[in-house]
Amino acid sequence: MVSAAGGPGRAHIIVLGNEKGGSGKSTTAVHIAVALAHAGFDVGAIDLDARQRTVARYLENRVNFGKKRELELPVPAVAVIEDAPGDTDLLIDQLLEWRDRDFIVVDTPGRDSPLARAALGRADTLVTPMNDSFVDFDLIGQVDPETFKVKKPSFYAELIWDTRKARARTDGGTVDWVVLRNRLANLDARNMRRMAAALGELSKRVGFRVVPGLSERVIFRELFPRGLTLLDTNALEDFSLSHVAARAELRALIGGLALPGWDTATAAAAAAAA
Ligand SMILES: Nc1ncnc2c1ncn2[C@@H]1O[C@H](COP(=O)(O)OP(=O)(O)O)[C@@H](O)[C@H]1O
Ligand SMILES: [Mg+2]
Repeated sequence: MVSAAGGPGRAHIIVLGNEKGGSGKSTTAVHIAVALAHAGFDVGAIDLDARQRTVARYLENRVNFGKKRELELPVPAVAVIEDAPGDTDLLIDQLLEWRDRDFIVVDTPGRDSPLARAALGRADTLVTPMNDSFVDFDLIGQVDPETFKVKKPSFYAELIWDTRKARARTDGGTVDWVVLRNRLANLDARNMRRMAAALGELSKRVGFRVVPGLSERVIFRELFPRGLTLLDTNALEDFSLSHVAARAELRALIGGLALPGWDTATAAAAAAAA
């Protein structure tokens, strides 16, 4: 066990948010939570998408697969919280109950809801994965059709702006907003360049950082039934070169989040492995 990242009563809260389904929130949430658990941190995962329950089901599959194969798989604690109109107490209670953990990873549904807003309002790190497409970009910023220059921020960027203002007023806290491009396909260099330019421009205007994302890889769709992640090297039988590259991407992504204690934990793990 490594030392607590936030210290007692100060779990670091990571929220996965984007009001768009299919952008990779749940996949990224599980990978971040499991990566932190592998590094020895005490991690809880909260699934606010009670309808799809992707994170909860992923981690249930993980427990079952680990038992079946008698594998040592670190598994974050998991809680599913239902949307009850006008009531966010269950979420607040869960965050309180887990406040002594190192990290709490909260996955949100791809739509606006009181629960999702309540989670955003408590995030230390907000991670927004988006597909590498201007359809997804449109939620955070609008671009000119001719030049692809950013015209103005869109509603999701405005929501985060309002959340930040409210947060500054209530507890003086700040949120580190991190955007990453998911399912990158190397086929389309021009779109990739345009997206990179537009994101760079918008990041300065609305205050987020861009970290390296993940390429489009079939493995991400196949890991779910076994509840595995790319970091479970002891459990992935058919590990290939493409998986090595994918794992490197994942490490770059998580390193880019600059989470408290992560560098120390990974350095300790590397030293132990040497
Ligand atoms: N990097 C990736 N490469 C290939 N498929 C991916 C990748 N990331 C996510 N997926 C797949 O995309 C779909 C949507 O991902 P998911 O994490 O459920 O998104 P969200 O939670 O934002 O709706 C799933 O089928 C998932 O397996
Ligand atoms: Mg999801």
